[in-house]
Amino acid sequence: LQQRAADFAANLLGWGLRAGGPDAYRNVVNALWERQPHYAQSQIQLVLPDRVTPAESERPVVQRIFDAYQKMKQAQLQADPIFLPGGGWKNVIENAYGELLAGSRENNIERFHYFLANFAAWEIPTGIDESSAYRKLAESDRKRRHFEQQVVAQLLHWWQTLESEGRSLDELVMPPYGNQGGFQVGSLIVTPNGIYGDFYARLLAGFLRSQPQPHARRRIAELGGGFGRLYYFLSKQLTDTCYLDFDLPELLCCAAYYLMLCFPDKRFLLYGEADYSADCFDDFDVLLLPSFEIERTPTDAVDLFINENSLGVMPPVAARRFVDQMCRVSEAIWHRNHETRRNPFPDNETSLLNREYPIDLNRFQLVARHCDIERVIGHAMALDKNDMYWYYYRRS
Ligand SMILES: C[S@@+](CC[C@H](N)C(=O)[O-])C[C@H]1O[C@@H](n2cnc3c(N)ncnc32)[C@H](O)[C@@H]1O
Repeated sequence: LQQRAADFAANLLGWGLRAGGPDAYRNVVNALWERQPHYAQSQIQLVLPDRVTPAESERPVVQRIFDAYQKMKQAQLQADPIFLPGGGWKNVIENAYGELLAGSRENNIERFHYFLANFAAWEIPTGIDESSAYRKLAESDRKRRHFEQQVVAQLLHWWQTLESEGRSLDELVMPPYGNQGGFQVGSLIVTPNGIYGDFYARLLAGFLRSQPQPHARRRIAELGGGFGRLYYFLSKQLTDTCYLDFDLPELLCCAAYYLMLCFPDKRFLLYGEADYSADCFDDFDVLLLPSFEIERTPTDAVDLFINENSLGVMPPVAARRFVDQMCRVSEAIWHRNHETRRNPFPDNETSLLNREYPIDLNRFQLVARHCDIERVIGHAMALDKNDMYWYYYRRS
């Protein structure tokens, strides 16, 4: 009887909502979903820290980053303009990273450090974490509670039941450098991105273990690694690797700050500290290089080249150039980008879709392709919005 009453109510509601068109229908369904009573009152709470004053003890690390940043900015002036931030990223850098730019321009390391110590607690979207989205979420008690009790609770339930293989929730916790917020569960703070990071790191580690190992240790490269989230989780799966991140100078500052504080014992190469050559793959554990340096990478030097949500934010000409380079230097490629949705850029330009990346299919074969885990496990609204697919290619 209850089912029949539900169908009747849905028919009535659906009839009215369809008149408003597909978008109106979906918005009301999403709003209803947010009002659904919670079955389990789990103790999950969004935590958004206030800005912090940088710790003086971090200054030697920040001084290295400050020096490398100024060298990168000098070198960027000589580089092919294709490697400058394009598409929407020029604005992202100018707006969200303004404090970092000003710190460098004024030769003011305190200001520069202040940005880094708070890069994950910024209101303006930095494009590399969810802090600004969570701040928006917190403006509505109902939306926040829905996200805590429905979205995060279900994600954690899924991870604990089907993914953890006996590991505790601690595995999902990321050191909060950069003043990261998240969802408090007991004494731990976790995030959906931490869950996805753990998931993909295990997937990629499995792919890598199945590949031949041509070098003394695994070499993993990433294009546009953000602040280093995926590498943080990968390093739990694979020990003794050499990791290379090619990115824009501002993002490399965040990655350097985050990863150097997370891994004080690893050997880092920041731009300008030594010449970038094949020797670096043995001499350093982490190489953080401006993206124009990708062209100086020796052919076949890398085991796996990763790209998560970066090719799809770049102008087509840049994306094609990077894909050519990834094919030249790597034994395998894994990327996760847009399947159907093009990012609009100035001058009516749009980003490429997955099928348009010029992967050389004479040299690479597609081993696996799947939709992004967030699409199936993440929050319901993502079903409309998440068109990401990942592809794993290997030399044939
Ligand atoms: C949306 S973020 C994704 C970050 C990270 N991969 C993740 O999934 O969290 C896009 C990344 O692409 C990088 N990126 C954008 N345009 C770029 C360019 N022209 N050259 C190199 N990296 C670029 C950004 O700096 C940033 O690290």
